[in-house]
Amino acid sequence: MSAPEAVTPDFQRVAVIGAGAMGRGIAQIASQAGAAVLLYDTNPDACEAAKGQLFSQWDKLLEKGKLSANAVAECKARLTVAKDLATLAQCDLVVEAIVERLDIKQSLFTSLEAVVSDDCVLVSNTSSLSITAIASALKRPERFAGYHFFNPVPLMRVVEVIAGLKTNGVVTQKLMRFGAAMGHTAVAATDTPGFIVNHAGRAYGTEALRIVSERVADFATTDRILRDQMGFRLGPFELFDLTALDVSHPVMESIYNQYYQEPRYRPSVITAQRLAGGVVGRKVGEGFYLYEDNKAVVPAEPPVPVVAEVPPVWVSPKAARRPELYQLLKDLGAHIETGQSPSEKALILVAPLGMDVTTLAAVEQHDATRVIGIDMMLNDSATKRRVLATNPATRPDIRDAAHALFAKDGKAVSVIRDSGGFVTQRVVASIVNIASDMCQQGVCSPQDLDLAVTLGLGYPLGPLAMGDAIGPTNMLEILFNLQTVYGDPRYRPSPWLRRRGALGLSLRHEEI
Ligand code: NAI
Repeated sequence: MSAPEAVTPDFQRVAVIGAGAMGRGIAQIASQAGAAVLLYDTNPDACEAAKGQLFSQWDKLLEKGKLSANAVAECKARLTVAKDLATLAQCDLVVEAIVERLDIKQSLFTSLEAVVSDDCVLVSNTSSLSITAIASALKRPERFAGYHFFNPVPLMRVVEVIAGLKTNGVVTQKLMRFGAAMGHTAVAATDTPGFIVNHAGRAYGTEALRIVSERVADFATTDRILRDQMGFRLGPFELFDLTALDVSHPVMESIYNQYYQEPRYRPSVITAQRLAGGVVGRKVGEGFYLYEDNKAVVPAEPPVPVVAEVPPVWVSPKAARRPELYQLLKDLGAHIETGQSPSEKALILVAPLGMDVTTLAAVEQHDATRVIGIDMMLNDSATKRRVLATNPATRPDIRDAAHALFAKDGKAVSVIRDSGGFVTQRVVASIVNIASDMCQQGVCSPQDLDLAVTLGLGYPLGPLAMGDAIGPTNMLEILFNLQTVYGDPRYRPSPWLRRRGALGLSLRHEEI
């Protein structure tokens, strides 16, 4: 992080209105980019508090060697507290980060239009209001845009630049350049509910909630699986606890309703009930996990069963990654049956994509009491955990034998109940499907989508890159089968994914 000597050419005098969590962060990076920053808040104490906090933040950056003494002195000198709106007359950019209310934001911008020059750019940091709706109160809506930062602003280095219906392209281009000058990756979005990051993030939590609501797995197991199989930094329930349900549940409801009850975004009664009960997350000491000394008390993993003898294993000819599964079984020392059909004693292994274990046991006409599923969507060597699923008829001794066999080399194993697409397949397919549909709707470019999600949500890969790595055709198969298992339009594939999957094209492929 460094502070350039020269001011940025696009915006030299920047006002930040609202000196709360977001306004402070925006003021910090704008000043570090070389702009003179005026901070204004209706509560003068908020401005003084913000100034004090920013000064000590810059001192810390100096101590850590991230900014020079000169740069810190300049940043401090560039920051001024504005006493009233009239002081902002000379600004060429005003960033609003006040309370999230349409009427209050509109009234502020109407007052500002009477103060600033005609070419001053006005932006809002709103995360849930329509940019077009805010702009509808303005005389010059063409100079207005969304400028959506993430908390904490200096560390979350992405900003969404949102064009409303009437926003002039020159305005968004200037904002993109200024975002980059502040050290952020600027991505362009159209004015749609949730913009990019909050829209693309809909699947992770809502699909995990469906898994738990079907009693496929408990919260902690679902978190472990998604962390260990896919490399998500936080499981969805850890994330809910961190964000707190008083924030995330209303966002789930709001995006669902703004899209007129689109099933892909459907919220869950689980979070509605927990919110009503005040069990909202880490900040109150109890969410999906209990917190002691601010640390989550994580339920212990079920132990690996001790099994005297593992029966021979027969693998369904339709298993995903069948050669790899054979190799894995060999490496684990399993006795593999190679006949056309399983023997009377065999543990019958299926490895479906999107389909549940029950359907395969029935369709392939196996003895369901001996059928176990394994998630082979990903290469075994690429994951830190194996996931097995029973069906309602699976015998406990078969379940335990499979668990013991797949844990033989010390790798973690989770045994879940039957589920179309286990845990990882259905969560990943839902993420990829929503991202694909965002591209279909033109919310943003495929490249900006992946960039915004990796930076804004910290996913190991952007959703489209994730879908490409697993294979668009596999993604499509998972979704078709999920639709068959659940009959829920939630899983219907987006035309973007459907066409690219059918043609074997990358999910990042744009039509010319
Ligand atoms: P905050 O509550 O920390 O700060 C808001 C500040 O605005 C307060 O200091 C308040 O005194 C001031 N204020 C309220 N009405 C005002 C007015 N009419 N004129 C001038 N100042 C006024 O809020 P926070 O979290 O900083 O959020 C601000 C905006 O940023 C909201 O629109 C929010 O939705 C959005 N946002 C928040 C994120 C977050 O994680 N907190 C992330 C992204 C966007």
